Amino acid sequence: MTDSLRFVRSFADADALAQAAAEIIVEAAGKVSGAFALALSGGSTPKRLYHLLATDAYSHRIEWPRAHVFWGDERCVPPDDPTSNYHLARKTLLDHVPIPPENVHRIYGEQEPAQAAALYEQHLRTFFGGPPRFNLILLGMGGDGHTASLFPHTPALAERERWVVASYYAQVQPSWRITLTLPAINAAARVLFLVSGVEKAETLCRVLEGEAAPEDLPARLVQPTDGELFWLMDEAAASRLKT
Ligand code: 6PG
Repeated sequence: MTDSLRFVRSFADADALAQAAAEIIVEAAGKVSGAFALALSGGSTPKRLYHLLATDAYSHRIEWPRAHVFWGDERCVPPDDPTSNYHLARKTLLDHVPIPPENVHRIYGEQEPAQAAALYEQHLRTFFGGPPRFNLILLGMGGDGHTASLFPHTPALAERERWVVASYYAQVQPSWRITLTLPAINAAARVLFLVSGVEKAETLCRVLEGEAAPEDLPARLVQPTDGELFWLMDEAAASRLKT
């Protein structure tokens, strides 16, 4: 029996969506007295959220010296590459808040993929000293239903022991990625999906209301074992939902 809760909420537009996500992150940070372990996502959707979290309206509401920032996945590129998820967060958020450098736990995308995955996993095991219970993992959803770098019908979906794996998927560029696996994601206290744009509407409907095999739509496999699952979207992305 799990104690998981699922919340599905839509918002008028991308700005309202980012505000709602920022409020959930601020609330999650305020619920812990010690380290706040936050895993960020990549892609374009979170840019608005990261910029918002860096504004005076929000940056003072998180005790950044207690925050530890990780990534749910990373592209296998150097940290200053414009396609790097670390680069995105650094430029839009981390360079603008008082987070200690040692609290930023990037994935070394510039290393050989399997080595980068093993190093990140070891770092996570050292940090958590037990199950990888992130306080909040932020995720996006691709048009094919992928999340983090868990792509349809790839070996990473079946991983049940390792917390981090290297994954190759020729249909995206860069094709080599490092990703948290489902055991690591589903151990989180909170998972927050952020989905925006009409181009995601059909896939989002299939993920939330359809019967497709989860391997076709990996985002369906995110089911926190004992945590809260938030699906936040704008009305454009929600436009095909029936409920
Ligand atoms: C990445 C992300 C990936 C992303 C989705 C949605 O490294 O690209 O982790 O899972 O969240 O592809 O991307 P958009 O927000 O750009 O649509």
